[in-house]
Amino acid sequence: MNVDAVILVGGRGTRLRPLTLSAPKPMLPTAGVPFLTHLIGRIREAGVGHVVLGTSYQAEVFESYFGDGSRFGVEIDYVVETEPLGTGGGIRNVASRLQGERALIFNGDVLSGVDLRALLARHEEARADVTLYLTKVSDPRAFGCVPTDPDGRVSAFLEKDPDPVTDQINAGTYVFERAVVESIPAGRPVSVERETFPGLLASGARIVGYVDLGYWRDLGRPSDFVAGSADLVRGIAPSPALPGPCGEALVLPGADVAPSARATGGSTVGAGCVVGPDAVLDGSVLFDGARVAAGATVRRSVVGFGAVVGEGAVIEDAVIGDRARIGARVELRAGVRVWPDVAVPDGGIRFSSDL
Ligand code: GTP
Repeated sequence: MNVDAVILVGGRGTRLRPLTLSAPKPMLPTAGVPFLTHLIGRIREAGVGHVVLGTSYQAEVFESYFGDGSRFGVEIDYVVETEPLGTGGGIRNVASRLQGERALIFNGDVLSGVDLRALLARHEEARADVTLYLTKVSDPRAFGCVPTDPDGRVSAFLEKDPDPVTDQINAGTYVFERAVVESIPAGRPVSVERETFPGLLASGARIVGYVDLGYWRDLGRPSDFVAGSADLVRGIAPSPALPGPCGEALVLPGADVAPSARATGGSTVGAGCVVGPDAVLDGSVLFDGARVAAGATVRRSVVGFGAVVGEGAVIEDAVIGDRARIGARVELRAGVRVWPDVAVPDGGIRFSSDL
């Protein structure tokens, strides 16, 4: 197929801090493997064999994990932005590496089940310059709204509109004709959402929407990151790249889970983790080497690399940074983020702000 895949992975992932201090968002373990592995698997399944990664923040970690891509059944090229060029600038920056006449372009943090072959077919049949995958959400205010005419042509781009006219949003995956990629200004930051798309529309380019109401989630926020990982483990979000038998939980080789502990809700227990007797994990992600002591409860939360949750502690909707130590009986809830290496002493302490 005469199509390349481009994945934008250069963002700093600030909303997922502190997890993104040690790894870029697309490299965070999601259902046991770096998130990008799932996306690359879906690209390969769609018959696209050449992938270009547009990197910037912590650029080197992508190549050291994915190499030339052969282990993942694709050929991978890397293009590094020394200064982040934004989403549009990142697309322009890979132009010289494109081998085909069009490119499938992905935000590197979207989990979806969209049929990529059907998206490409829609683009070809509509003879579009750009085709956008669109989905619908109940509250579109935080997204880019993209209304379409009855024939499917995009009529406007309304970024983060407080009073949206449609529940149809930009799902972060596009097909671009190569000439359109080359028309983006080079060498300076460009936002594809705020500059390129409105500019193309104003200049009369043919921009088409492809609406798919199947699984879609942007993993940019901690609550979505844990939910997306759990959906992969439970088979609600499709992926050809799951590293082992899944279901209610995915326990990676080398993890030690006490027989009386319960891991449910699509939790992932990373390699080398230890989960003590009667501990409860529900819809959570334990990165490699994390430890959850006896009787502790971890719900809808991430426990970072090598972090420790003490006996009887309760962690709900929280993010525990790498190597942090949460004392016995501590309660953390409602969006609390604990920074790496922080130690929270034992005690029945309740926290509702970041540590
Ligand atoms: P936040 O800081 O939490 O908003 O995350 P982010 O930096 O990842 O930004 P956002 O979620 O808006 O980015 C969407 C996708 O574009 C992600 O996959 C990013 O890695 C990618 N991205 C964002 N900015 C750049 C950039 O300047 N260059 C490249 N190559 N990719 C980018």
